[in-house]
Amino acid sequence: MKTNGQQLSPLVEPNRPYRLTGKVAIITGAANGIGRAMATLFSQERACIVVADIDQPNGQAAVEEIKRLGTSAIYVETDIAKPSDAQRMVEATMNHFGRLDILVNNASVGLNRPFLDTTLEDWQHTLDIGLTGTFLCAQAAARCMVQQKFGAIINIASISGQRGAQGRTAYGVAKAGVIQLTKVMAVELAALGVRVNAISPGPVDTNQSRSTHTSATRQSYHERIPLGRYGDRDEIAAAALFLASDEARFIHGHILNVDGGYHAAGLMFEDRVADHAELGPSTIAESGLSMHKPEKANCSTKARKRVVS
Ligand SMILES: NC(=O)c1ccc[n+]([C@@H]2O[C@H](COP(=O)([O-])OP(=O)(O)OC[C@H]3O[C@@H](n4cnc5c(N)ncnc54)[C@H](O)[C@@H]3O)[C@@H](O)[C@H]2O)c1
Repeated sequence: MKTNGQQLSPLVEPNRPYRLTGKVAIITGAANGIGRAMATLFSQERACIVVADIDQPNGQAAVEEIKRLGTSAIYVETDIAKPSDAQRMVEATMNHFGRLDILVNNASVGLNRPFLDTTLEDWQHTLDIGLTGTFLCAQAAARCMVQQKFGAIINIASISGQRGAQGRTAYGVAKAGVIQLTKVMAVELAALGVRVNAISPGPVDTNQSRSTHTSATRQSYHERIPLGRYGDRDEIAAAALFLASDEARFIHGHILNVDGGYHAAGLMFEDRVADHAELGPSTIAESGLSMHKPEKANCSTKARKRVVS
């Protein structure tokens, strides 16, 4: 993987045992973006995958890709906001594979709209999919998992559910709800054998962020994220793999920020590019702002001072 012009080591080391052998995972929203990366990574770790999505062409394409990797997969057309679809998604999984080990509640829709302009329709649509859809799929899966007395559920939240950000009225509230839902589920389902956690990604380059992030959004993220870049969808998938695997068997009710330090950040006034002068000019030229370079990238100390919050 190449990020910020730096060659990073593989996220998954070769020549070690597969981490999800024999497990069956439903991934909602797996036709595209982060969910697709999760489906690929989980299948490389030998899980059988249920691609649950409204996007039939890309959902089928994801299934074909997984099959080429040598594992089993099915596509179940699912609108997560519909109770009957959430139920059918779990039934189809049990009918085909006979068990359900992992649910990644990943599907949602983004929205960038100021509070004063957010309509009731915006609000309802975003919460119906982002929060109610997560609840419906989690409940349908958990009812099945508690009968088995095992299972892991990973809800995909967002840093927008933790920090106040412009334009994130409906989306941020949906994701804040996902975080609280995760904690309540964790408390209630622990004794029944189901582990529940959430991932809170920072910005990642996908269809969703491309449609909702303006150049001002991108510049603001680049300035405020200590690691100085957007995340890669494989980096979110790697976190989901960890939480889904037995390595995380004592991790429960946790909200894992995968955000380059955005949530932790406070005062930041040093010039990040100057700090890394030892990387050399060619790497610096490619670094940080290059992945999603805003029209007028400004990494100066002056700019850094301006964004201190
Ligand atoms: N991309 C980012 O910057 C970012 C940041 C933080 C959190 N997230 C979260 O990560 C998750 C994945 O986002 P992404 O960026 O990959 O988005 P994406 O738009 O690339 O993919 C979302 C997938 O969900 C599917 N989907 C949408 N509505 C659906 C519905 N009603 N039923 C079933 N499937 C539906 C879409 O068809 C698509 O395949 C989302 O929960 C998103 O909110 C993304």
